[in-house]
Amino acid sequence: MKFTFVTLFSNLIEGYFRDSILKRAIDKKLLEINYLNPRDFSTNKHFKVDDTAVGGGAGMVMNPQPLYDALSELKKQDESVHVIFLTPVAKPFRQNDAKRLATKTHVAFVSGRYEGIDERVIEDFADEVFSIGDYILTGGELASLVMCDAISRNIEGVLGNSDSLSVESFETPLLEAPSFSKPKDYRQNSVPKEYLKGNHSKIRSLKLALSECKTKFFRPEQFIKYNCTSAMGFLVKKTK
Ligand code: ADE
Repeated sequence: MKFTFVTLFSNLIEGYFRDSILKRAIDKKLLEINYLNPRDFSTNKHFKVDDTAVGGGAGMVMNPQPLYDALSELKKQDESVHVIFLTPVAKPFRQNDAKRLATKTHVAFVSGRYEGIDERVIEDFADEVFSIGDYILTGGELASLVMCDAISRNIEGVLGNSDSLSVESFETPLLEAPSFSKPKDYRQNSVPKEYLKGNHSKIRSLKLALSECKTKFFRPEQFIKYNCTSAMGFLVKKTK
């Protein structure tokens, strides 16, 4: 799968792909990462890419021309590219979006800086617009990296062990049960005794109970959804 980051600041992004899981995926040719800088397309003699907002308002807005030309070039090279704009004023990005987008062949992330992007470019080019949360970042680069990471790990072969996808939080209505590693006793704290006894049915029940506790505590709104679904009999049977 190919990702193109349309950004004025590719340096902010590049380092993330130099190590660990996504580097391995690039080495295995499962991922290809490209960058496109709108400044390279600016027709302004000083390669300016922003200006004050028409109609007033604080800060600078990214001009339409450099982005319009950059994205036209991208579309000319690959008509099938799925173009995503990152802005806090959009629908929230969720795990089901990550799974859905992992089936695309080419995704481009367009990151705004300053006070944002001229809306006309978004209207012309956006296949989708996402926010990664209800807070304002200094630009879309971090948001695009978050999305790229979450999408990539749903691509076949990117994670070493594909089992680790199926039991994760957000793959079911419940948050994942706590995990423990060795040693079994550490600083006078033991892992839950049930985990040590090797009775897999009991371990499953305990994990379900712990998942329910975590969900109820951290995500009460999600727990209500889980309870309702359960009551309606849609959920996989709980192990006793
Ligand atoms: N750009 C600035 N803040 C953002 C957010 N929360 N999500 C996506 N893009 C952004």
